[in-house]
Amino acid sequence: MSDQRHRFHETWNSRWTFIMAATGSAVGLGNIWKFPYITGENGGGAFVIIYLACIALVGIPVMIAEVLMGRWGRSSPIHTMYKLVDECGVPRIWHGIGWMGVVAGVIILSYYSVIAGWAIAYVFKMASGAFVGVDGQASGEIFGALLSSPSTLVFWHSIFMLMTLIVVALGVTRGLGRTVQILMPLLLVLLVVMMGFAIRYGDFQAAWNYLFSFHAEDLTVMGVMEAMGHAFFTLSLGMGAIMAYGAYMPDRAPVGRTVLTIAGLDTLVALMAGLALFPIVFASSAIEPSSGPGLLFVSLPVAFGNMPAGALVGTLFFLLVTLAAWSSSISLVEPAIAWLTETGRGTRLQGAILFGLMCWILGLGTVFSFNHWESARLFGRFNFFEFADFLTASIMLPLGGLLMAIFAGRYIKRSRIEAEVSLNTGVLFNLWYWVLRWVSPLLVGLVFAFGLARVFGWV
Ligand code: TRP
Repeated sequence: MSDQRHRFHETWNSRWTFIMAATGSAVGLGNIWKFPYITGENGGGAFVIIYLACIALVGIPVMIAEVLMGRWGRSSPIHTMYKLVDECGVPRIWHGIGWMGVVAGVIILSYYSVIAGWAIAYVFKMASGAFVGVDGQASGEIFGALLSSPSTLVFWHSIFMLMTLIVVALGVTRGLGRTVQILMPLLLVLLVVMMGFAIRYGDFQAAWNYLFSFHAEDLTVMGVMEAMGHAFFTLSLGMGAIMAYGAYMPDRAPVGRTVLTIAGLDTLVALMAGLALFPIVFASSAIEPSSGPGLLFVSLPVAFGNMPAGALVGTLFFLLVTLAAWSSSISLVEPAIAWLTETGRGTRLQGAILFGLMCWILGLGTVFSFNHWESARLFGRFNFFEFADFLTASIMLPLGGLLMAIFAGRYIKRSRIEAEVSLNTGVLFNLWYWVLRWVSPLLVGLVFAFGLARVFGWV
C-alpha cells in the first residue's frame, strides 16, 4: 500500500523541507498584515493573549491531527478522506472535509491575491521614492488612491494569481521547497531590522504595553471568536492545506515536535510584525491602531519614508511580504490541484488554469469592495471582501477544524494514532489526545456556531 502511495506523489527530502514548506504556508499575509490590524480593531493586549491561548489549545492539536491524517492518506485531502472514511467505516458525509477544503481554498485565495497585489504595488511605490518624507496623513492618501482605482487593483491581482499558478503548475517540491528555505530566514532578519527602527524612532514602550497587557474589559465575545478563527487562518488549518503537505512528509519524521516548530515560527513572525508596526502607529497622531486593513500599508511606509535608506529597505520589505504571501498562496490551491491530477482528469497545468480562473473572477468582488461596491452590504453588514474573509476564517475553517478534531480524536483507532505521533513521552501524548478530543472541538464548535449566528443576525 505504502509503495503505491509513494509512487503518485513525491515526498519532501527531509523533515526540514516539510517544516519550511509548512512554515511558508503558515507565514503570510495573516501574520504581517491581518494579525496587526485585527489586534488593533480588538483593542490590543487581551486579544493577543487569547490568540496565543488559541494557538496552544486549538491550533497545535488540530495541526497535529491534520498532518497525521495527511501522512496516513498520502494523497490530496479529498482522496485522503475517502481512504480514511473507508478504513474507519464511518458515513460518507465525512468526505465533506476534503471537498469543503477545496472550496475554502479557492475563496481565500481570491481575496488573498488582491491583498498580495497591494504588496506588489508597494514594492514599486517604495522603489520610486513615493514615500520619502511622508507623514501619516500623506501615506494614508497614497493608499486611498490605490484602493480607489479598480484597474490598478485588478492588474496587481492578476500578476499575483499568475505567479501563484506558475509555481503550482510546476509542482510544489521543485520550486517551493528550496525557495522557502532562503526566504523565511531573510524575512526574519528584515523583521528584526524593522523592529530596530521601531525601537529607535517609534514609541516602543507604548506598543509593548498595547500588545501584551491584559485588560479584560477590552475583550468582547466577538474578539475571542475572531482570535480563534485567526489561529486557524494563520496556521493554514481547517481546509486541508496542511493535510496535503503532510501527505508528502517522510514516514519517520516526528509529528509532534515538527508541528511545534512550525507553530512557534509562525507565532514569532506575527508578534514581531506587531512590534515593528505599533511603535510607529503610536508615534504618529495620524494613524489609529483600529484603522483596519490598511494599517500595514499606511503606517510602515511612514517609517520607511523617514529612515536612512528607507526607500531601499521598504522596497525589500514589501518584496518579502509578497514572497511570504506567495509561499502561502500555493498551499491554498494545492489540495485542489493534487485532487485533479489524482483523478486523471487533468494535468497540474490544466488544474492551475481552471482553479486560477475561478479565484481571479471571485477576486474581482474583493477589488470592488474598496471602490464601486464600497457601500454594498451582504447580510446587512459585510462588504464582499469582509464576507469572503468572514465566511472562510470564521465559518469554514473552524468547521473544517472541528470535523478533523472529531475524526482524528474519535474515529481513528487510538492505537493507530499512537503509532504515528511518537510524542516521546506518554504524558505529552495523553495531554494532546485529551485536548484534541475534548477541548479543541468544544472551542472550535463555539466559533463556528457563533459565526453562523452572526450571519443570520442573531448576535
Ligand atoms: N496561513 C496563511 C497566512 O497566514 C494563509 C493560508 C495559507 C491559509 N494556506 C492556508 C489559510 C490554508 C487557511 C488555510 O497568511
